[in-house]
Amino acid sequence: MLVLGIETSCDETSVAVLDGDGRVLSNVVSSQLAVHAPYGGVVPEIAARAHLENLPVTFERALAEANTTVPEIDLVAATAGPGLIGALLVGLSAGKALAFARGVPLVPVNHLEGHLFSAFLRCRAAALPVDLPFHGLVVSGGHAELVRVEPDRIVPIARTRDDAPGEAFDKVARRAGLGYPGGPVVDRIAARGEGGRYPLPVGRTGDGSNDFSFSGLKTAMLREFQKRGITGDPLDPESLAPDLVDLLASFQRAIVTALLDRVETVHRSVGIRMLALSGGVAANSELRRTLSEWGEARRVRVLLPERAFTTDNAAMIAFAGLLHYRKNGAQEPAVAVARSRWPLGTS
Ligand code: KG4
Ligand code: ZN
Repeated sequence: MLVLGIETSCDETSVAVLDGDGRVLSNVVSSQLAVHAPYGGVVPEIAARAHLENLPVTFERALAEANTTVPEIDLVAATAGPGLIGALLVGLSAGKALAFARGVPLVPVNHLEGHLFSAFLRCRAAALPVDLPFHGLVVSGGHAELVRVEPDRIVPIARTRDDAPGEAFDKVARRAGLGYPGGPVVDRIAARGEGGRYPLPVGRTGDGSNDFSFSGLKTAMLREFQKRGITGDPLDPESLAPDLVDLLASFQRAIVTALLDRVETVHRSVGIRMLALSGGVAANSELRRTLSEWGEARRVRVLLPERAFTTDNAAMIAFAGLLHYRKNGAQEPAVAVARSRWPLGTS
């Protein structure tokens, strides 16, 4: 069995081919970073047009790398939400057309569910069977979600009330003149800084819930920049003042601490059997190290995604589609709709 995955929810155009055991045969990602970089963030209309331009060649390459052709595809999985509606429509419409023309099933996939199961993916190794139940922490440019994945449902536990952690990395880096996206550059800078130097606020919501909040931290950082006369003019990441290096390391430490704190709270109250990390921010070195050490200390298995499957990719969409198909069968291609909002755990 071969599954074709299509992802176009934000600024990566991606197509992947997996076999029936979830083995990744190809995963081609065409990034739009360069076209959005001058604007300091993703411009929805530009993203939709770029998907239209990039999808055909991304599709051809994914089939070629998997050494297959369209008639061999048995199942199509396409991201249907959440995301930018114009961007989603490009990939979902292509998926529908393909499924309809070939007479194969289509599975509309929740992008967050794609991230959630991405920690199980391995290049050229089977991802099935998925070991349930587990807790999943999805941290990306648009989301921070802690959920419990059970055989028949996904139970939300905590989410962000304001900024997502990746969004905080991106906004802070932009205001420091370090470009977009902010996560990777701050990650590199923080590696040579002293993360314990500046205690920064990582708020709880104050109402006893486990939800995250990162906007207070972002505001505190903007205030620190103001104090230092940093206005957003481009800075060279390799030659920053030592004080700024420590400040950025402390900022990263604050985000990692907030995430770890919530994981620990949930572990104490209900017990975590296995924790699967995912999303773009799952590429962060300090977060990976900290959660691994936490898992060793608590004897909890911590599953880290391969870096290729952290940021948006179609392999994770194909895999989530495959899991759905094995459980529920396929939906009629014509009824799949794109949705800008689609909370995890809802159908
Ligand atoms: O999952 P993703 O590709 O897109 C969304 O669904 O949002 O995540 C992109 C986010 C960006 O905010 C980017 O700054 C962040 O992931 N990111 C990182 C790192 N690499 C990417 N954040 C922290 N450390 C990294 N190494
Ligand atoms: Zn994503």
